[in-house]
Amino acid sequence: MTDHATPTAPPPRGPETEARSWQLCLRCGETLAETDPWPRCPRCGGLLEVRHRPPGARGAALRALFDAPRGDPLADGSSGVWRFRELVLPTATDVVSHPEGNTPLLHRPAVARWAGVDALLMKHEGHNPTGSFKDRGMTVGVTQARRVGARAVACASTGNTSASLAAYAAQAGLPALVLVPSGKIALGKLTQTLAYGARTLLVRGDFDAALSLVQEASERLGVYLLNSINPFRIEGQKTIVFELLRQLAWDPPDWIALPAGNLGNTAAFGKALREAHALGLIGRVPRLAAVQATGAAPFAASFREAFTRPHRVRADTVATAINIGDPASFDRAVTAIRETDGVVTAVSDDEILAAKAVIDAAGVGCEPASAASVAGVLALVREGAIGPGERVVAVLTGHVLKDPGILVRFHQETEPPPPLANRPIEIDPTLAAIEKVLEVEGR
Ligand code: F0G
Repeated sequence: MTDHATPTAPPPRGPETEARSWQLCLRCGETLAETDPWPRCPRCGGLLEVRHRPPGARGAALRALFDAPRGDPLADGSSGVWRFRELVLPTATDVVSHPEGNTPLLHRPAVARWAGVDALLMKHEGHNPTGSFKDRGMTVGVTQARRVGARAVACASTGNTSASLAAYAAQAGLPALVLVPSGKIALGKLTQTLAYGARTLLVRGDFDAALSLVQEASERLGVYLLNSINPFRIEGQKTIVFELLRQLAWDPPDWIALPAGNLGNTAAFGKALREAHALGLIGRVPRLAAVQATGAAPFAASFREAFTRPHRVRADTVATAINIGDPASFDRAVTAIRETDGVVTAVSDDEILAAKAVIDAAGVGCEPASAASVAGVLALVREGAIGPGERVVAVLTGHVLKDPGILVRFHQETEPPPPLANRPIEIDPTLAAIEKVLEVEGR
């Protein structure tokens, strides 16, 4: 891995005057060129944000642009990310796309009833090519890695980012370095990361330790960092919101609920809604409900104190994807919650597993962290924050097969069996044995 990704020249002053897109430090206001590969502001270390000049059209004309075919196969529907390229990365040409996005918006009466909201829809991001929403950020992040001439890419991960990075890096022909907390990521995710060929390091420590280590390592080794502090990842993840709004014919729901860990996605949703409203794509902004696991809820603790200070905890939840104690995108997620009049809540592991059992039994299925969004809807309905007549979209962030271990533990090993637990029964290879089982169950 070489050092050529290390930036050399200082960024041009005031690139916003000429360029279509640029990067802005949210802390000190420094501007950087679009192709500057620094992972953070080189002046103050703050997080960067990508800014674009507004597209030529707005309001109904912009909605029509995104709704109608325009002779570009990627934008015309093979990718649900590049459909919105004007708001994602307008100048990108040589795009690394699987493709991704175009995920379904599902209504299942059993889940809606359980959560206490008739008009509950689930946006299932587990339908992405590597089984999580991370692919939306990664198509943009890896495209950008190529544009800045990176020779290698890296991330720390609770498993989904690493699976996605490994796949997109392989497609782009870039070596990938992945740091994951040893023994703390789900089997499906580790399997994918290894299968797609990423150099995988099992860090003896938690995700927060792995993230700070990879930031140091990527700087030292000159490797392009693709955690969600990378602002180009955020640009791709915004399209979850654009796409669900488009699926609702641009008539926004009252709420969007999502699981929250490192808070990149909460930040992305806030930015998407800000832009969609400013460009007249929607006339009203839905409220965000960010849902954490109680064992990993520093953002919920800060919310209860009106965000006067960030919290840091030692994280411990069965929802390994969001087992994060010191979220990197805290500041920009605070902005997202404030701007949308949103809320942050936390749900217990038992509530997460109960929601997952209902989602699974409806034939939809998701990984534990994803079920936090539906568990959070139920909690907010009970508190009276969400009215039963409101329209809610809950985002399911990852596929049921990501974490097979949890199902074995929850269904097979918990005593007494929890509601909806479905235990396999071992039999002799005879018809009589099948008849005996069905007879017992028929009683
Ligand atoms: N849901 C799933 C399935 C995730 O994998 C993650 C994050 C989140 C929700 C939370 O998103 O961090 O942007 O608040 N997974 C990261 C990873 C940390 O490494 O795969 P967030």
